[in-house]
Amino acid sequence: MNIVILAAGQGKRMRSALPKVLHPLAGKPMLAHVLATARALAAKKAVPARIVVVIGHGAEAVRAAFAAETDVQFVLQEPQLGTGHAVQQAAPRLDDAEPTLVLYGDVPLLRAGTLERLLATAGDARHEGVGLLTVRLTDPCGYGRIVRDWHGNVLKIVEERDASADERAIDEVNTGILVAPTARLKRWLAGLSADNAQREYYLTDVIAQAVAEGLHVAAVAAEDADEVLGVNSQAQLAQLERVAQRRIAERLMQDGVRLADPARLDVRGELTVGADVFIDVGNVFEGRVALADGVRIGPNNVIRDCSIGAGTEVLGFCYLERAAIGANARIGPFARTRPDVKLGDDVHIGNFVEVKNSTFGRGSKANHLAYVGDATVGSRVNIGAGTVVANYDGANKHHTVIEDDVHTGSNSVLVAPITVGAGATVGAGSTVSRQVPAGKLTVARARQTTIEGWKRPTKKSG
Ligand code: UD1
Ligand code: CA
Repeated sequence: MNIVILAAGQGKRMRSALPKVLHPLAGKPMLAHVLATARALAAKKAVPARIVVVIGHGAEAVRAAFAAETDVQFVLQEPQLGTGHAVQQAAPRLDDAEPTLVLYGDVPLLRAGTLERLLATAGDARHEGVGLLTVRLTDPCGYGRIVRDWHGNVLKIVEERDASADERAIDEVNTGILVAPTARLKRWLAGLSADNAQREYYLTDVIAQAVAEGLHVAAVAAEDADEVLGVNSQAQLAQLERVAQRRIAERLMQDGVRLADPARLDVRGELTVGADVFIDVGNVFEGRVALADGVRIGPNNVIRDCSIGAGTEVLGFCYLERAAIGANARIGPFARTRPDVKLGDDVHIGNFVEVKNSTFGRGSKANHLAYVGDATVGSRVNIGAGTVVANYDGANKHHTVIEDDVHTGSNSVLVAPITVGAGATVGAGSTVSRQVPAGKLTVARARQTTIEGWKRPTKKSG
């Protein structure tokens, strides 16, 4: 199957330097959604897909954003003379033996199942079927209208600006998505003229040509108007984002997740869940996040590229990045992990604690006000309030090892590189910069003294 994705338009109304199809929806560029749909369709039909993306405005940025995707061919449309002209640029890449499906890079919510229905109705097996995805809108303004004869057969598409008053009254509109036999499509495209209100080569004009050649045009109505919404402005992008998020929330609830409010969840990437997961309001999940069975996520966290083990609770207001967290741990409130943190089972990371590039063994705790960076922390360690691992000497970062069962007192500073031996206790307020022996109390602070006979100064009079 040939799949052409139109993505050359400027998207002027987005008022942005970013090419329109690179604007993110649910954390991925719009074009990535369309590509995923194209691939899902090919997989459903078990046919290889030849995917051609027509680029123009911001072509280099679009190409660069998808450089790793080797199943996609790009063709440049320069200048942009309309949707028909755009498909024509892709023509040399299309296999005549297979039908061609045209998709839009700025219509990202379309489902593969809907396209499957379109192809089935058009009868692509004979490669001569023409199919058009349409939708009925209460306000059809701005769209091409589907003109039918008395029997209901599709005759042509007329663009809003070329339509008569009667035609404008038609509420069935062109979504832009169509399928056509490739050899004929190429011929029709070559015969297009720009003799219309916009002086453009309209893809939509191929429909009248198909009818003139005696082909039947199947019009399939999208059941869900949301699916065929295009993005032309920031307002529409925001509207589609909500639709996309609603879909994600529904899928999660089908998987058994309890959401405090499906309207107050943002998944910008891939969220996988076990059984009996609860997610409170205001959470943002980015990248790949996996929540195991029984995980509870409190309100207002940002969680990016993390895996969270069974029974672990993330209390509110945490910012977690690239952390692998074990089972039955307790994180937050107000905890921060920076990339590459590994926390064992039963670990507690509490209020105002920052952890970076460190591992914590089973049952270790940093409950309040601490910074742990570039450290290997053993099991059952207790990092006292105000403990700072000083990992940075101003030029280089150094590693710290804190062995099993260590307790660090409040306000202690561990100057890296250093090893705190198993079972050691570091006295409160200590700054330790040499090895701390195992099993002993080490104190490194000025001794407390009391000055006898000392008098507070008094104000001089006069
Ligand atoms: C088009 C259809 C209209 C349909 C509407 C649905 C035509 C002539 N009209 O109108 O019937 O109701 O979509 O949204 O096809 N593009 C290019 N190169 C170009 C022009 C456009 O790649 O030279 C791409 C755009 O990036 C976009 C898509 O084609 O992804 C549609 O272009 P747009 O200008 O938005 O089409 P409409 O005028 O809305
Ligand atoms: Ca246009």
